[in-house]
Amino acid sequence: MIGSLLLAVGALATLVYGFLVWNFGHWRARGIKEPRALPLLGSFPNMVWPRQHFTMDMRDLYMKYRETDSYVGTFLLRSPKLLLLEPRLVYEVFVSAFRHFEDNDAARMVDTGKDVLVCCNPFVLEGNEWRQQRGIFSSLLTNGRIRTTHTIMQRVCRDLESTSLPRSRSRESRRTAWISGLRFSGDSLFDCVLGIQARCFNDSPLPLGRYPECQQRLYEELDKASPSKELPDLDELNDLPYLSACFNESLRIYPAGGWASKTCTEPYKLHGSHHSQPLQMLPGDNIMIPIYGLHHDPQFYPEPEEFRPERFLDGGLKRFKQMGVFLGFGNGPRQCVGMRLGLAQAKAALAAIVQRFEVRVHPRTADGLELDPYIFVGCHKGGIWLDFVARPV
Ligand code: HEM
Repeated sequence: MIGSLLLAVGALATLVYGFLVWNFGHWRARGIKEPRALPLLGSFPNMVWPRQHFTMDMRDLYMKYRETDSYVGTFLLRSPKLLLLEPRLVYEVFVSAFRHFEDNDAARMVDTGKDVLVCCNPFVLEGNEWRQQRGIFSSLLTNGRIRTTHTIMQRVCRDLESTSLPRSRSRESRRTAWISGLRFSGDSLFDCVLGIQARCFNDSPLPLGRYPECQQRLYEELDKASPSKELPDLDELNDLPYLSACFNESLRIYPAGGWASKTCTEPYKLHGSHHSQPLQMLPGDNIMIPIYGLHHDPQFYPEPEEFRPERFLDGGLKRFKQMGVFLGFGNGPRQCVGMRLGLAQAKAALAAIVQRFEVRVHPRTADGLELDPYIFVGCHKGGIWLDFVARPV
């Protein structure tokens, strides 16, 4: 009896193990290097067992293999994913060979038939459904429409400023950037898109600052554009190069998504410069792009942990995008459809704060750049704590 039970448990364990490692070897069989993957955990163990943010697993693989391979074979848990390492190929997948890689992997994870809200988001749609829904979003998010929301944005910026004001007699006010950011985005998005005043700032007050010299340069640019400290209008904000550079540099250091996942929709040959033979990609094959690794590669961004907005001046943004090493909003036909609105909001908020406050980092903010492993998108571990010192009027 005990013998049969042990036999059954052993057979079950072998079956489970076989199931977990069934796909391992998928890439080797196609002639591609396959770094070691673990049963159950795959190539990105911190996704399941978070000791650091799991995008660091991807960054580590990128840094280890980028000089010898254009891609390596990895496994997200047990699903085979080709990890692209060569920026030129990243650009092909996002832009020049887009029609071969039209779909996001997210489409496979969502049952659009059941989830009526999520199925409205182009991000999870495929083929004609994606084209149709993208068209609706694009027509709602034109420059003209965004311009008409500027008065709403001014109101939300005033709320942001007033909740940053010191409450006590001391001239400082301490806030966490995370909560402020959520309130600001909630208030402006609800009102600009849905016409609903969410009043996110009503219940309690609110937050950048390690680089005072950058802040001073930004303040001077804003002061020159609007000595009266009125929030510049959208066109004026878009004409401020240092403001754009500060925002892009922040998005480089903290990309909203540390990776992207694309699905091959038509056969395509990847010609990696490290490989003698092209790799034939077939419909259904999946590609992962290590955005965090690319954004922090010292080959492209010397001293990548340093905040240096100057990198993005004088055509830097266009150059980095064309090299395939800047993907803050993605790239190509599927790049973020809300980019212009997102930029308008972020620039307005940054300008409104820097015009009126000197922002300093409070010691409660942890040094260095460590992402919170328990938050899926990239957030500084422990939060970003800032002091707001009102500038003389
Ligand atoms: C600073 C703010 C924002 C950032 C950093 C951001 C970033 C991104 C990124 C990285 C993607 C993936 C692009 C790709 O796969 O190539 C994306 C897609 C998308 N974003 Fe944004 N986004 C922002 C604001 C917004 C806003 C305000 C909206 C809507 C009002 C929006 C709507 C979308 C949609 C619908 C997609 C899917 C596009 C598609 O698959 O065709 N985003 N965003």
